[in-house]
Amino acid sequence: MCGIVGYIGNGNTINILLDSLECLEYRGYDSAGIALVSNDSLRVIKSHGRILNLKDKVPITLNATAGIGHTRWATHGKPSDYNAHPHKDCTGNFAVVHNGIIENYQSLKDGLIAQGHKFSSETDTEVIAHLLEKNYAGSVVQALLDTVRELEGSYAIAIVSNHAPGKVFAAKKDSPIVIGLGDGQYFLASDVTAFLKYTKKAIFMEDGDIVIMSGEGIEVIDFNGRPVRREARIIDWELEEAEKSGYENYMLKEIHEQPKSLRDAIAGRLNELTGEVVMPELTLTKADIDDIKRIVIVACGTSYHAGLIGKYAIESMTDIPVSVEIGSEFRYSANRLGHETLVIALSQSGETADTIAAVKGSIKKGARVLAITNVVGSTVSREANYSIYMRCGPEIGVAATKTFTSQIVIMYMVALYLGTMKGMLGAEQNIRMVAELKALPNKVQRLLENERYIMGLASLFRNAGQFFFVGRNLNYPIALEGALKLKEISYIISEGYAAGELKHGPLALITTNIPVIAIATQCATYHKMVSNIKEIKARDASVIAIASESDGLIDQLVDFVVRIPDSNEYIAPILSTIVLQLFAYYIAVFRGCPVDKPRNLAKSVTVE
Ligand code: F6R
Repeated sequence: MCGIVGYIGNGNTINILLDSLECLEYRGYDSAGIALVSNDSLRVIKSHGRILNLKDKVPITLNATAGIGHTRWATHGKPSDYNAHPHKDCTGNFAVVHNGIIENYQSLKDGLIAQGHKFSSETDTEVIAHLLEKNYAGSVVQALLDTVRELEGSYAIAIVSNHAPGKVFAAKKDSPIVIGLGDGQYFLASDVTAFLKYTKKAIFMEDGDIVIMSGEGIEVIDFNGRPVRREARIIDWELEEAEKSGYENYMLKEIHEQPKSLRDAIAGRLNELTGEVVMPELTLTKADIDDIKRIVIVACGTSYHAGLIGKYAIESMTDIPVSVEIGSEFRYSANRLGHETLVIALSQSGETADTIAAVKGSIKKGARVLAITNVVGSTVSREANYSIYMRCGPEIGVAATKTFTSQIVIMYMVALYLGTMKGMLGAEQNIRMVAELKALPNKVQRLLENERYIMGLASLFRNAGQFFFVGRNLNYPIALEGALKLKEISYIISEGYAAGELKHGPLALITTNIPVIAIATQCATYHKMVSNIKEIKARDASVIAIASESDGLIDQLVDFVVRIPDSNEYIAPILSTIVLQLFAYYIAVFRGCPVDKPRNLAKSVTVE
């Protein structure tokens, strides 16, 4: 949802800004721009489309010691050169980039127009530049303090100004900004991947912070102008993790990284001998856990599907009832939460606006919140009472892959932890589950060796107009996820259903022309699933089954079978997911779709 960057230092400002923007292109890619400030001028260059288009417009001779940049995912005003950021005020003394939404922009704009300001875009952001102009009376910092007081909504803002050519200013409320501390140079970005190449030392800005970056260093103040201390952290992501490393796309690389990301997710967290989960970050005591009468899992999109799996696991391993809520619905629902409720917020980015709002609302109502995120220092993890990190490394492809499978594994570990603390799981059961989890990364590796077969199936079905995905029990959320993955990157209409629901309506759509993917791995509902497959075959649809290696029945029932290594009912859904990720990936590639950057989507949805 838009990426912003900023730089000050003696490096090549333009190259650094463009380079950093490219790292953030996954957050939005309908237009991009930069603003450069040097002693005598403030220059804005922007362009509709990808950063490549912007690069063509930037004169090589240009240089500056400070600048800001933006890559956009449109919220107000269609993608175009004039709606691209940075935006300037009437005098051309301020340039602003913004991620978020200014909710009261229309009334602010009406007021500014009445005072004679002329607007050149349809964006909400442009009001910020005009407010700075209106409020400027000799100090940019004071103008910014006065401006943020007038803004309602969410914003990560970066500013350069002719009035302070050696400085970059930023303000944060409800949208992320991280400051990178280099050697004599300073970076600002929506996400650390933008400057990982230059420094791993970072300060995560908090809501209500203003940062002033200059050649002398970093100053942080609050919205009342009082100095604030923020600790720097060292980011433990490697640069190679944020690069394609020879893969055609990030998505394919990230699918292939799953043996490692899963290994990292469980590393040091499972004791094979006792079957215990060791998660020092989960500081819930036995008394705390005994107090929990209800768990609510809140998430959006793919994370919501991981939440559905979490519900099955927690309800099987504990006696605590679990509901799973979509963030955008939950935040406005009349939910009754209290201290006896544990809210689990699942968000790979930790910056999804609806999930953040759900977390804040839950805390206000007295619930305790456990965050499961991939981004250290992200808003969800900071707002929550407890936080578990996925340790996946950066995920750049817009379609979530490795973070989804790690979310599932972490949900299992949380379920095991709660079940053990409540005395509901025997050591033997735990030890078996821990052994299955430990064996998972190698099974994923074996499964990936089957990639060519999955690619062949994708080639066969590349022209299908619609798909159905069906599964039961833990495989139902996997059917939803398989359908989401396919629709978001290949633009094929695909629907996921609980297989038992087909007879209640969707079966009317099943004809010879609709391929159905049936997730039919060994589990308690396997024979029910077999009956559902027979119902589908009776309508002459082509069925591709995902089945366990040792299944001797399935070949006679369906048209194609993708085998996954034998595993228990919890692990098989993770392996099936990886088959569906590869299937979606290759169909999208065969159809010529931009897999890493699907149309209309952005990686992290920081607006409502
Ligand atoms: C789809 C996808 C999205 C995200 C959703 C929530 O592939 O990635 O559906 O899962 O936008 O994002 P997070 O997990 O960052 O809260």
